[in-house]
Amino acid sequence: MASILDAFKEKHEEAKVYNGKKIKVGIIGCGWIAEAHLKSYLKCEDVEVVAFADLVPGKAEAFAKANGVEGRYYNSDKELIDNEKDLDAVSVCTYNREHAPCTIYALEHGVNVLLEKPMCVTMEEAVDICKAEKKSGKILSIGFQPRFDENMKMVKKICESGVLGKIYYIQTGGGRRMGIPTPFGTSFIQEDTAGLGALGDIGCYSLDMVLNAIGYPKPLTVTGFKAGLFGKKPEYLQKPEYTEVFGVDDFAAAYIRLEGGVTLDFRIAWAMHCDTPGDTIIMGTEGGLRIPSTECWNGSIGGPMTIYHNIAGECVETVIPEMQNDGDNFDKKIRSFIDAIEFNLPSPVPTSQIIYNQAIISGIAKSSDLGREIEIEIPEF
Ligand SMILES: NC(=O)c1ccc[n+]([C@@H]2O[C@H](COP(=O)([O-])OP(=O)(O)OC[C@H]3O[C@@H](n4cnc5c(N)ncnc54)[C@H](O)[C@@H]3O)[C@@H](O)[C@H]2O)c1
Repeated sequence: MASILDAFKEKHEEAKVYNGKKIKVGIIGCGWIAEAHLKSYLKCEDVEVVAFADLVPGKAEAFAKANGVEGRYYNSDKELIDNEKDLDAVSVCTYNREHAPCTIYALEHGVNVLLEKPMCVTMEEAVDICKAEKKSGKILSIGFQPRFDENMKMVKKICESGVLGKIYYIQTGGGRRMGIPTPFGTSFIQEDTAGLGALGDIGCYSLDMVLNAIGYPKPLTVTGFKAGLFGKKPEYLQKPEYTEVFGVDDFAAAYIRLEGGVTLDFRIAWAMHCDTPGDTIIMGTEGGLRIPSTECWNGSIGGPMTIYHNIAGECVETVIPEMQNDGDNFDKKIRSFIDAIEFNLPSPVPTSQIIYNQAIISGIAKSSDLGREIEIEIPEF
């Protein structure tokens, strides 16, 4: 059956014909992740990266030139969108607090958007993004490159195959012992730029891994906790003075009820006195899947996965060998976005799913602030 489907997929791929018109792309925010976007766009023969914007004067031009390209340079997202009249798409590579305003402005001006993860900071922003997307009719994809990883696809295939039976409980999360991200400055640890710490930065990946695998059921309630416990200790940051601006969480945990009778137990850490806050475990009535603890961002799994089940009344384990990737997941993220624009395909990582990811993240933050369980409400848009 799989080979028949693969053959169909190949035929579908062949049917795509590039019409000779290059897709004009702008990059908004010229920091660390923008380089990965630019390098992947440069590998697409049907893409021309024409413009760059950054709030820091001179940064956009320096960034383009350091990567061996030239374009037009702007000091903000608005300036770029207002001046580039025949732009097809932008990558929004700003820090989290600027995700919503940049994305909404681009969509309102008829520009397709590849938005970096996490989708945004608050649920209100997420709803505003979805409203702008719907009104625009443009493609909006969220930058979850692990989606293209073969091991992540295998997690989804296992869940969908029915081998686990009815899935009723998931434990997920991950993290690092000393991994508060400050090698390129403080945009990840300041409240006014990041808005969320480990919870938004790497928590969104572990949530996407399991929620995507089980078809993104709607979250119903959240009991969450988050805290900044290590960010004021100089040894955890690149420079001791960064402790003065640290203002986000470096640990979060939550208990989430999902539609369909699934409970989700979640924990995430940028720093901790432990090797892992636990493997990912997906429990079903016919089998359980253990995914060794991951680094959370690059789609890797920590080793071969195991399915625990019964055969002829005996407890047995089936080890799933690690899958090899054919190509780079960052390239696939960019390629899938361009294909969606060029061939009128659905968004590769759609907001209809990621709004639930954001609802959980923002819900954990809200529940933690309030000190109690909250119901998740997602208004119609
Ligand atoms: N997918 C991944 O693997 C991955 C990896 C790293 C970061 N990210 C995400 O990418 C985003 C950026 O991370 P980074 O490490 O590149 O951060 P960064 O701080 O290095 O770069 C962000 C840049 O955006 C600029 N900026 C902010 N608002 C702007 C605006 N309105 N107009 C123009 N420029 C603006 C800033 O001046 C800064 O130079 C974050 O949301 C992060 O979560 C994703």
